[in-house]
Amino acid sequence: MRSRLVTRVLGSALFAGAAPLAVHAASAQVLVSQGNGHGVPPCQSCHGASGEGQTAAGFPRLAGLDADYLTRQLADYAADTRANPVMQPIAKSLSADERQAVAAYYSRLPVPAIPPGTPPPDRTGQTLATRGRWSQQVPACEQCHGPGGVGVGTHFPPLAGQPAAYIEAQLEAWQQGTRRNDPLQLMQHLSRKLDARDIAAVAQSFAAQPLPAGGSGR
Ligand code: HEC
Ligand code: HEC
Repeated sequence: MRSRLVTRVLGSALFAGAAPLAVHAASAQVLVSQGNGHGVPPCQSCHGASGEGQTAAGFPRLAGLDADYLTRQLADYAADTRANPVMQPIAKSLSADERQAVAAYYSRLPVPAIPPGTPPPDRTGQTLATRGRWSQQVPACEQCHGPGGVGVGTHFPPLAGQPAAYIEAQLEAWQQGTRRNDPLQLMQHLSRKLDARDIAAVAQSFAAQPLPAGGSGR
């Protein structure tokens, strides 16, 4: 009698512990491929079937990015500190649990290859990326984003292999103050020292830079 009770209590404790994980995995998969039925379109219609992004449209790659970074970006769109007419309503229609689940899902996907036809790195861009421009107190991008722009931990996202149009759009968003979610306003200050040619050059360089298979540097 007693042992049956113990089994039942234990069983329900185990079930209670296991259930949220199962729900997470299922809901992330459904969100990505079907949306959530109340205002969220399938993520993959823009970010690609494997989270690889879309070069021509400038939709960012999500595959292999750090889960906490992705969760925070979704929270920032919802809080309007990162303005974008497409992503703000989507992020607002996701619950905190859904944001976390979908971020975890994308962080585990393998990093895709650089799309064929991507233009080679630009010389001005490479100099900015690896050495910066000290006459204007612009540090090398790689000092924060890691060697080759592979990303460092939760705070410094990878730039390698992101569509050039996406990198450009972010630098312009910081210049204009429509993206203002960066810790210590590091990117807001830095972007204002770059002109349109610098931005195009540095974006082209990182777009051509492959990311190692392990994803963001940790
Ligand atoms: C209609 C197209 C579209 C759909 C659908 C879409 N996105 Fe996006 N997403 C974008 C665009 C465009 C951007 C870049 C916005 C910007 O410039 O800030 C973006 C940016 C992001 C970013 C920021 C990435 C980074 O590197 O900072 C995340 C995270 C994201 N989307 C997650 C999602 C998730 C999760 C879903 C599904 C629930 C989704 N998106 C659905 C178009 C879309
Ligand atoms: C002093 C540190 C620092 C330096 C140097 C730096 N960055 Fe950043 N960058 C950051 C941080 C922090 C973030 C993340 C902001 C956030 O949390 O939303 C970021 C984000 C970005 C993003 C957005 C990526 C995404 O997935 O949305 C781009 C693009 C970017 N940086 C480009 C550059 C370029 C190009 C350079 C060199 C010209 C550069 N950064 C130099 C700190 C730095």
